Amino acid sequence: MKKFVSLFLALIMVLSVCVIASADAAPKKVGISMPTQSLERWNRDGEYLKNQFEAAGYEAILTYSDNKNEQQVNDIDNMLSQGIDLLIISAIDGEGLNTVMDRAAEEAVPVIAYDRLIMNDAVEYYVSFDNYTVGKLQGEYVEKALDLANAGDKTYNMEFTAGDPADNNAGYFFNGAYDVLKGYIADGKIIVVSGQTDFQQVATNQWSTDTALSRAQNILASYYADGTTLDAWLCSNDSTAAGVAQAIESDYAGDNAVIVTGQDGDIANLRNIVDGKQTMTVYKNVANEAVVTLEVAKAILSGAPVDESLIANFGDVECAFDTTSYFTSEGHFATSYLLVPTVVTKDNLQYLVDIGLYQWDADQVYLLAK
Ligand code: GAL
Repeated sequence: MKKFVSLFLALIMVLSVCVIASADAAPKKVGISMPTQSLERWNRDGEYLKNQFEAAGYEAILTYSDNKNEQQVNDIDNMLSQGIDLLIISAIDGEGLNTVMDRAAEEAVPVIAYDRLIMNDAVEYYVSFDNYTVGKLQGEYVEKALDLANAGDKTYNMEFTAGDPADNNAGYFFNGAYDVLKGYIADGKIIVVSGQTDFQQVATNQWSTDTALSRAQNILASYYADGTTLDAWLCSNDSTAAGVAQAIESDYAGDNAVIVTGQDGDIANLRNIVDGKQTMTVYKNVANEAVVTLEVAKAILSGAPVDESLIANFGDVECAFDTTSYFTSEGHFATSYLLVPTVVTKDNLQYLVDIGLYQWDADQVYLLAK
């Protein structure tokens, strides 16, 4: 009998070791929630993130929520029901995810806010670019291109198109640009002929190209049809810049080249830059954003410190560690990793080829996605 009991206990021990080993061996599961596929960059983000995590041995669930907040809530709820170990979310509405963020907190599922901050304290971590700097680069580009610092008595007419007010980034982009230009507006060197300089007046729901187009057409018809010169139009990203450039082409009678800014390096906008319909874009290497996100996720899931020391794991990716700029609620700051954006114009398009994410077309004139 004794022999049987000791054999039985040995069997239980072997089985429990196997179960623990198998539990440890089961790949960690990450949920990746992207906002939409209708805005070009998120297709790249989703692909890079999924590939990076799978290559590192994780199981990755990737969803796109068609720019519908309710769908994103359902997508994240479903991921949580599938027992994921970590959430990576680019929010459609930074204030629209409270129910699922509260559930993630209850179930102790860590959340990385990806690119766009989420206004809920369940979010401890934020990986993005320095969004204020993105806008600042756009404002500085206009300042330099018009040589505003040496304008003397010359005045310039310009307009603004900002992003989606539900997107926490949009305010940072607009403020970064406006803070560069507001002094020139105040002293009359820059005249915003439409008078629209408030973020809510110039914001574009869902970053929609069509919405940006129709607003720009209205402004051109109302304020520039009398021959008033338009010198610049500051757009916070490429999808809105595409609409503004189309309006200028169809509804602006002036023969001067209008400075148009953008962000993201969307293929159609890079064509517009070659063709002179857009002047610059602020490029954000989203492949690098995925690298940083993976390293942060690995540290979180392994219980390693999530602090400035992680930057050593990012290779040659330039990134700042920040714990005082982005808060999810008053006094609750996210541990943030902020990558560095790059200005791209027709003079340095080769940079996008050199980093391996784009290629020249057969005639070496336009860039294509790789
Ligand atoms: C922002 C993002 C930008 C911009 C926009 C449209 O949050 O940081 O890259 O393109 O969304 O998707």
